[in-house]
Amino acid sequence: MLPELERVPRLKLASTPTALQEAPRLAADMGLRRLLVKRDDNTGLAFGGNKARKLEYLVADAVGAGADVLLTVGGPQSNHCRSTAAAARQAGLEAQLVFNAPEVEAIQGNLLLDQLLGAGWTFAAPGQSPADRMAELAEELKAAGRRPYPIPSGGSNGLGALGYVRAALELDAQLTQRGDQPTRVVCAAGSCGTLAGLTLGLALAGREAQVVGVSVSSSTPDRVARTREVMADACSLLDLALPPAAPVIWDQYVGPGYGVATELSTRALQTAARAEGLILDPVYTAKALGGLMGEVAAGRVGADDLVVFIHTGGTPALFADSTLYWRPDEAPRCL
Ligand SMILES: Cc1ncc(COP(=O)(O)O)c(C=O)c1O
Repeated sequence: MLPELERVPRLKLASTPTALQEAPRLAADMGLRRLLVKRDDNTGLAFGGNKARKLEYLVADAVGAGADVLLTVGGPQSNHCRSTAAAARQAGLEAQLVFNAPEVEAIQGNLLLDQLLGAGWTFAAPGQSPADRMAELAEELKAAGRRPYPIPSGGSNGLGALGYVRAALELDAQLTQRGDQPTRVVCAAGSCGTLAGLTLGLALAGREAQVVGVSVSSSTPDRVARTREVMADACSLLDLALPPAAPVIWDQYVGPGYGVATELSTRALQTAARAEGLILDPVYTAKALGGLMGEVAAGRVGADDLVVFIHTGGTPALFADSTLYWRPDEAPRCL
């Protein structure tokens, strides 16, 4: 591990190292000779996923600052909000979540878990940004004598990204042990903290694999710039110079919008399940694996490319109203 990283306080929340698994049947179905899957869906904190790694640093900072309540923002099916609610409990804190409008009535999927975890939640007013509502809420809580710790959307600041610098170093050690040299490392890209940490960590480890983020929405116009910003923030926390590394973005697989199923994402969800018993989520990892399938089909990723696919979790969204994120009835029955 990197000594600069070891100096940053961390609260152990994730079960790591996560497995790095060969997926031979999925690889064959996709037209690849080999595919490795990094199982960050199994980080263990209330159904796992990538946010547990970021929260190890964010919650340690909150505890160090004497906070008694974590605040964060997202959609009502946010994996990040659910993970924050669980991390708060592990640290003996409370969580208050701010969701973007419109209000939803059905308590399903991640929202059901938020309720079970005893998180409070509120919706931003129509036209108000959740970040603005969170800032307001922080002031209200302070006025009431509480000590809030606001966490940005997706936990994607430099501190949160350190969780994925650590994950990249863990992956590097696993690859070294196996004697594998991937050409690409592929993950879903939302608020880009995962991508930033992976890009930075793999660069610091001297890996030459191309790091790819598959966009899951069109909300961030320039994901390379956003990723570099988070990397710079992380480097300043580590007191390290920012290396020139930058990710590649595949932004042509979003389809009609965030969380809206596409033909490729549906195919990815089914193929992973049926080839390997590997359950993806409909919003992030199905779009990301669908993107990889699209690139292989287009010949831009070759059969001999060795890809590491980062499974970032998110599976509770499968149990939200299926018409929101995927349509089991419309899924192709035979692939
Ligand atoms: C399951 C899952 N995968 C990937 C991502 C994207 O991670 P990031 O926001 O760091 O880009 C998220 C973000 O919420 C997520 O919930």
